[in-house]
Amino acid sequence: MKHLLSMKDLDTDKIASLLEEAERISNGQVPELSEKFTAAYLFYEPSTRTKMSFEMAAHRLGVSLLNFVPEHSSTTKGESLYDTVKTLEAIGTDLVVIRHSEDQYYKDLTDRISIPLINAGDGKGEHPTQSLLDLLTIHQEFGKFNKLNIVICGDILHSRVARSNAYALSMLGANVYLSAPDIWQDQSLPYEYISMDEAVEISDVLMLLRVQHERHGSQMNWTIEEYHQLYGLTMEREQRMKHHSIVMHPAPVNRGVEIADELVECDRSRIFKQISNGVLMRMAILYRLLEKGAI
Ligand code: CP
Repeated sequence: MKHLLSMKDLDTDKIASLLEEAERISNGQVPELSEKFTAAYLFYEPSTRTKMSFEMAAHRLGVSLLNFVPEHSSTTKGESLYDTVKTLEAIGTDLVVIRHSEDQYYKDLTDRISIPLINAGDGKGEHPTQSLLDLLTIHQEFGKFNKLNIVICGDILHSRVARSNAYALSMLGANVYLSAPDIWQDQSLPYEYISMDEAVEISDVLMLLRVQHERHGSQMNWTIEEYHQLYGLTMEREQRMKHHSIVMHPAPVNRGVEIADELVECDRSRIFKQISNGVLMRMAILYRLLEKGAI
């Protein structure tokens, strides 16, 4: 597989192999690239973690980066995404990472470009590199996925992280549940919805999602405090979690909305561990696609 677009591109063996590569990197075994590669990161939507950790990953592997800023590019003159990527390919770029607001923006590209493309988030579609770093975090904690109760909670309808993780974790044998207000449920997903009160009691991994105000186009039905009390991880709910359970969140976090401010860095929280793991996993992915030409 030349590109990484969706978790559906990966089987359990490929996921296991990427987790092992990331663990080796974590233990100081940074793989060496056999030649000098250049990558371009095209972020048409804002990002801190994904873009910066891809940059750190490239830096640690010795991959050169081209600086692409959509607002300063010929995108502003109407150039299509395809023509932009073809241009980067023509000047010698070896790999592109793209985040874009359109679901499956890559459909038009993949058969017509010869360099690898990594999807850093497509609209409400998928976020495969976030999912892989989340899998690394869960695997470090439990050493397995099979039979773990994983509840993904919050703004499911607008979440590409939820889609990638629910699919991948289910394929890996976890018991996946969703929890969301009625208006943010996605009934096309084949998973059971449970209440937040049930979620905190049964979960081994409570995966919270950001309320994606930028995708709603209208105001929330609740005040922040009402949402937090009804659907968030409150201080009181955290007390009811199992002793060994962990809290995850892809971040950025709306502190005091989907999670109490005090819990963002509590003992159960793996939120900043996820962010650190993002560098390891993105190093593993860049190495595989640049050096081996496939995951
Ligand atoms: N989790 C995530 O994708 O964060 P950014 O939007 O900051 O990249």
